[in-house]
Amino acid sequence: MSLERIAYDPIGVLHTPFSNPAGMPIQPPGAAGARGTAQVLAQFEAGLRDLDGFSHLILLYHFHRAPAPRLTVTPFLDDQPRGVFATRAPTRPNPIGLSIVRLLRREGCKLYLENVDMLDGTPLLDIKPYVPAFDAADVERVGWLTKAEGRVQQHRSDARFGE
Ligand SMILES: C[S@@+](CC[C@H](N)C(=O)[O-])C[C@H]1O[C@@H](n2cnc3c(N)ncnc32)[C@H](O)[C@@H]1O
Repeated sequence: MSLERIAYDPIGVLHTPFSNPAGMPIQPPGAAGARGTAQVLAQFEAGLRDLDGFSHLILLYHFHRAPAPRLTVTPFLDDQPRGVFATRAPTRPNPIGLSIVRLLRREGCKLYLENVDMLDGTPLLDIKPYVPAFDAADVERVGWLTKAEGRVQQHRSDARFGE
């Protein structure tokens, strides 16, 4: 086991309509119809081959405007403090975001996306195809979100994890 430092380089950048971390969607279901793009660096274009066959992608990205990490946070959908790993808050020790977005089309290194919930200029770390047979779990419980998950579509972020 190695606990040495790990450094990743972005494979591209995400462009979205959102420039302020407050007042924007908090998850893709709340960003229905919000369009954006992933501009992938030219040196990775060969890796985009065959991606067009998938309607949804898993994006992994760096929360580049996240404030310092906190191990206890009060999430957007709650008024109680929660352990950060039991939330999707950006203020994580490794500020990695994960969004499942719709792929509208690809033009070379540019991916046209829908349902984006990240800030404009967010550095993109990885892309994976979303495959329900791999990724859609038959869940039994959703913890503290049981009473809150239904509000995700309407709820907008506030200033608690940024300006
Ligand atoms: C609750 S997080 C969820 C993001 C992702 N779907 C996830 O679960 O990892 C979404 C919020 O993070 C903030 N955010 C989005 N992109 C960010 C970025 N690049 N840097 C810092 N904060 C960001 C915004 O306030 C947005 O509403």
